[in-house]
Amino acid sequence: MWRDLAPIGRAADSGGYRRYAWTAADADCRAWFKAQAESRGLTYELDRNGNQWAWLGDPAAGGAVVTGSHLDSVPDGGAFDGPLGVVSSFAALDELRRRGAEFTKPLAITNFGDEEGARFGLACVGSRLAAGQLTVDKAYELRDADGITLPQAMERAGYDPTTIGPDPDRLARIGAFVELHVEQGRALDLTGNRVGIASAIWPHGRWRFDFRGEANHAGTTRLADRRDPMLSYAETVLAARREAELAGAVATFGKISVEPNGVNAIPSLVRGWLDSRAADQQSLDTVVAGVEKAAREYADRHGIDLDVVRESFTPVVEFEHTLRDELARILGTDTPVLGTGAGHDAGILSASVPTAMLFVRNPTGVSHSPAEYAAEDDCLAGVAALADVLEGLACSS
Ligand code: GLV
Ligand code: MN
Ligand code: MN
Repeated sequence: MWRDLAPIGRAADSGGYRRYAWTAADADCRAWFKAQAESRGLTYELDRNGNQWAWLGDPAAGGAVVTGSHLDSVPDGGAFDGPLGVVSSFAALDELRRRGAEFTKPLAITNFGDEEGARFGLACVGSRLAAGQLTVDKAYELRDADGITLPQAMERAGYDPTTIGPDPDRLARIGAFVELHVEQGRALDLTGNRVGIASAIWPHGRWRFDFRGEANHAGTTRLADRRDPMLSYAETVLAARREAELAGAVATFGKISVEPNGVNAIPSLVRGWLDSRAADQQSLDTVVAGVEKAAREYADRHGIDLDVVRESFTPVVEFEHTLRDELARILGTDTPVLGTGAGHDAGILSASVPTAMLFVRNPTGVSHSPAEYAAEDDCLAGVAALADVLEGLACSS
């Protein structure tokens, strides 16, 4: 499975993955998922929001145990963030069949659409729509960098965008959702364990800062006459670092767009996206308020108009203790329980269904980068752990 997926959407120049929602690479990943489902005799289903499901047993029976993750990527992402969870889910089912496990509950494997939000700017679109955490109106307003809207992109990829929206009946079939994911930090590695259990996801969000100044000639405009939004933007980046350090949080400007984007032109617009996350809501609020206040001061100083728009927000997720404890019982109570600053579909779904996560060791902690890595032995330990968990939750003992 890993070998089949490896070439899909891989950029030759960086070695990273560019698997964005509703693109050709995404279609290839989806075709791979469907083929995996069918080759195992699972019932394939595409839901109203473009999420893929592979069912063993009758979905209508209720109380299903669902596992899976996503196949899309960030720009130049690694091979593991997302695909490890989907591949491990199929591999865990294979392992359970080898064990001769008898399923007493329906089991499903999922690929949630557009988890990373790399194309339309909002993460977890598929799960948010299903859970009613993204309205259809807002989803229809999402646009990519070329101005293509989400419904247009879905239509071009051969999907019907008119049916998107809350899917409570489908979620009501789920008794437990377990997402396996490569760890995106070194916390697990530092414990010396291959596999861990998630405790919580930090509250996190994305804010767009639009600094508007005046385009002018880079050679002839006196410094004193300029209204250069790049200056206030640059100072704001430094403020974000400062505020995050003070609050023990993280803050990142990782994406920027500049107009007119000419080497010899003072910009008219600098648009920067702030991603900020913290262990608790109050720290996150403090960081974002501090960055915005500093940005306004810098903007005033340079005659710049500033708009700040919160594009997305996910509150803290504390994974359900009953299911988390059940995983610890199955895997051993010495299994490390770790928090994470990364967002996941499991976090979105946790508002609707009992949800848990397993992490697989990442020896460098690098993620959202072509250098993301997990050792094969650790991945196999993840599959075995997921199989144990699914057996414990969905099979008779
Ligand atoms: C998704 O991986 C995120 O944490 O942004
Ligand atoms: Mn990710
Ligand atoms: Mn992920």
